[in-house]
Amino acid sequence: MSTPRTTPEEITATVVASYSEASPRLRELMTALVRHLHDFATEVGLTQDEWREAVAVLTATGEITDERRQEFILWSDVLGVSMLVDAIEHQFPEGATESTVLGPFFVPNSPLREYGANIAEQAAGDPAWVYGRVLSINGEPIAGAELDVWQNGDNRLYAVQDPDAPEAHLRGRFKTRADGTYGFLAVRPVPYTIPADGPVGRMISASGRHPWRPAHIHLIARAPGYRTVATHVFDAASDYLDSDAVFAVKRSLLRTFVARESDDPEKPVGVDGDWYSVENDVVLVRGEPAEPSDPGRTA
Ligand code: BEZ
Ligand code: FE
Repeated sequence: MSTPRTTPEEITATVVASYSEASPRLRELMTALVRHLHDFATEVGLTQDEWREAVAVLTATGEITDERRQEFILWSDVLGVSMLVDAIEHQFPEGATESTVLGPFFVPNSPLREYGANIAEQAAGDPAWVYGRVLSINGEPIAGAELDVWQNGDNRLYAVQDPDAPEAHLRGRFKTRADGTYGFLAVRPVPYTIPADGPVGRMISASGRHPWRPAHIHLIARAPGYRTVATHVFDAASDYLDSDAVFAVKRSLLRTFVARESDDPEKPVGVDGDWYSVENDVVLVRGEPAEPSDPGRTA
């Protein structure tokens, strides 16, 4: 009688069994990872050349990653995994502001600015008055909530990407007033591309995708006794809302930038000429105010 052949199923079962001594959560994670990875290879009939190519892509990803650029997270973003993990962690009830990706351009400790202050420290585009209230899910105003905001300018860059920009340009932290209101002067954001000169960019162009993100302003809202939310204000008139390179658009986050004229009596201090306004209420749910994890930089 001949010795039985080793089957692919047996290889998978042996690897899964090798985790029997791991802690319960690690065992769960590793055995599911092994099963899904092995199923993937089997399903597509992965060739050795293709697997070698995949390893070369991972190697290039490591080589381009440093303390300023995090290409592994960019893979997570463009494969929709960042949005999926965010959605699993932040299942807020109906009516609460939805969360979306933090992105690589968040810089902690932005300057605390006064109500109405301008976050543009140099010319950066069309002025936009961003205002609204921070509310509980029951509609009660939350006084003293913090909004940490950052955005790009009309050169498509965030300050951290732009050697010519002051460090705190286009970012700031604002506190809500006693009635829960906030307001600050920003610029109308513009669409921009995610960093596309590395392995992620090569995958995107090889696949017929594009690297653009629709225009948005980032914000993190924090208040004692409430869940922290990292979200965006998307310009409802932007291009790429239906094809965001990182799949971060949620319908509830679209806002209209309303064109306003120079002689409008509500024109904010510091604006010359025409401007925009955009209203954005933020609704928080009660809970532990855990900070979103900083995923590192991609440019
Ligand atoms: C951003 O919105 O800043 C961003 C998010 C994910 C990847 C790249 C950029
Ligand atoms: Fe962004």
